[in-house]
Amino acid sequence: MEVLEQNVADIIARHKSRPEMALVALQEIQSTAGYISALSRSSLAIALGVPEGELQGVISFYSELRSTPPGLHRVCVCNGDSCVATGSHHIAASVETHLGVSPSQTTLDGQFSYERVYCLGNCALSPSIAIDEEVYGRCNPDGVVQQLERFQRTTDA
Ligand code: FES
Repeated sequence: MEVLEQNVADIIARHKSRPEMALVALQEIQSTAGYISALSRSSLAIALGVPEGELQGVISFYSELRSTPPGLHRVCVCNGDSCVATGSHHIAASVETHLGVSPSQTTLDGQFSYERVYCLGNCALSPSIAIDEEVYGRCNPDGVVQQLERFQRTTDA
């Protein structure tokens, strides 16, 4: 068993028969492995003694939990009040169309993970997005698509 698999197995074993720890266990697995695989989810369900569908419900409810591997770049569109009021939903629609993903999904080529997040701490320059660790303000749909294309060109080069 590889180290990563062993670490996930250790997390699952630590929470055995403690269904109230489902969310904590899922967060720990994601923190360790980068996402929650189907195998991890099923093993955790057995260990906790809960239906696997219940864990899938938790994963679906919390947008920060992922069931697919993260992409090379993480794209976050702010869903906070200030950004929503200044049109972030138009940016989100452009990102989703351009990348062909829904929130919490990764593009098929593995380049981008996409998330809706609540406040990037850049409200004065709403609407805001982040790509990896960089936050961008006063965004618009076309500008964000151009930004994504720059990342795609850089990654493809
Ligand atoms: S609400 Fe979007 S940066 Fe604060």
